[in-house]
Amino acid sequence: MGDFSNLIMWFCLLLPCVYLFRIISRKTSNLPPGPVGFPVVGSLFQLGDMPNESLARLSELYGPLMALRLGFRTTVVVSSPEMAREVLHTHDHAFAGRILMDVANNQFDYPKYSLVFNQNEAKWRELRRICISELFTPKRLDALRAVREQKVRALLQHIRTAFAARRPVDIGDRVFATVLNTVSNTLFSQDVVDLGSESAAGEFKSIVWGMLEAGAKPNLADFFPALRPFDPQGIRRQNDVLVKRLYAVFDEVIERRLESFGATEGRGSGGEGDDFLNVLLELDGKAESEVNRLAINAVLGDLFVAGSDTSTNTIEWAMTELLRHPDKMAKAQSELRETIGADRFVTESDISQLPYLEAVVKETLRLHPPTPLLLPHRAEATTEVAGFTIPKHTQVLVNVWAIGRDPAYWENPSSFLPERFVQSDINFKGMNFQFIPFGAGRRMCPGMPLAVRIVHLVLASLLHSFSWELLDGMAPQQLGVEAKFGLTLRKAVPLRVLGSPLIEM
Ligand code: HEM
Repeated sequence: MGDFSNLIMWFCLLLPCVYLFRIISRKTSNLPPGPVGFPVVGSLFQLGDMPNESLARLSELYGPLMALRLGFRTTVVVSSPEMAREVLHTHDHAFAGRILMDVANNQFDYPKYSLVFNQNEAKWRELRRICISELFTPKRLDALRAVREQKVRALLQHIRTAFAARRPVDIGDRVFATVLNTVSNTLFSQDVVDLGSESAAGEFKSIVWGMLEAGAKPNLADFFPALRPFDPQGIRRQNDVLVKRLYAVFDEVIERRLESFGATEGRGSGGEGDDFLNVLLELDGKAESEVNRLAINAVLGDLFVAGSDTSTNTIEWAMTELLRHPDKMAKAQSELRETIGADRFVTESDISQLPYLEAVVKETLRLHPPTPLLLPHRAEATTEVAGFTIPKHTQVLVNVWAIGRDPAYWENPSSFLPERFVQSDINFKGMNFQFIPFGAGRRMCPGMPLAVRIVHLVLASLLHSFSWELLDGMAPQQLGVEAKFGLTLRKAVPLRVLGSPLIEM
């Protein structure tokens, strides 16, 4: 008992010393201001369930460039358009590194081959260049326009069948399956989910969904490096199983493709498809290229994970906001009726004639940016910003959720008002720092051109082809906008609605 009281006494004496040490070291380090936090855990428990909202509140106290400790990880949080410009534009190169999340550190050497988490600048640059030039140029995207329209048509047909049976539709679930097929056809010219099956809960969909869930879990190993070898919550193990299943699907696709090239033909010639997979297979094995089978699997996985939930959430949130605001829904639908009429489907080339629809998408991305803190950046060199010093390897989070609601830039920031974007030059291409749902600078989302096409086409088609009804007589104001924080900001309660057809199909 005596020993125990001694221990408590020492602990009580030491605690204020540790605290004092942290305050002094913070003063001498010239870090930006921020909460001192508790010994060991720092400010970890102040993050709560919605870190974007808690960090926004803390930054009101400490300022738009704030430093805090999350476990053993020093983190700087950026919360104003001015500071975002400093970090993502003025000092873009210094802050273009990535923090490797522990869940991503898998058995297939993923960090060495990944586009999202690669720590090697040269490899990352090569993979990014390939994706941009072979997937996301207007020419490449135009070539696959008909395929995307066909996938959306299948979704519309599916909703129509559900209506005939008076069955409600889970918008997120169905759009997720459609987006996966759109991405898979862009990458390797085949479907990965059977939309016709009752729940669309195919193997592939559940793998990608599981990986998104694993990545969303708060992982102690991210904050306490000493725990990494033990994977204390089993998150990495759980993800590894999913990655193995995902790579098995890709391996099958790749083997079939290689067989289709035939014995005498070279890679990429004569076989199936003229698509991204062919380009990657051509590069595989070339001396000057970093691409190999592991890199192909890693990049394909990256594109599915980065592209599916983000695009789906944007569509689900847009539908939610429109259902909550019937006047805006009516405006969007009458624009579609006037521009397209009722005897044909929406096509991608219609989108530029739909300014209100475009404004709806922008307003949705402002209020509900799918990745509210971007993906965690890392300072690659010690850098001075606004008179403060940000040390090398500091984690940098940009709170685009808070920036999109900054009252200095946005009137009635929490109201859904697409009108604010009609006749406005503000766009999400990375130069208007008050609105950066796709990020800005070197790490900006490379998939934006594809995302823009998918999101507008799916949303326009849903609004053009159906009139939408909430279930059980629910009033528009009762529809919740609660979010769930994870790798992306999802709706906490999935949107289930009934769509009655407006046009002949
Ligand atoms: C509405 C849909 C989307 C949104 C809002 C979005 C947003 C973002 C954001 C904020 C980042 C991180 C930027 C940063 O860390 O600074 C990112 C990265 C990325 N996104 Fe997207 N994205 C979307 C759709 C897509 C699509 C469709 C694809 C491809 C199929 C894609 C592929 C990627 C990749 C590969 C990265 C990592 C880039 C890198 O680390 O260099 N995204 N996205």
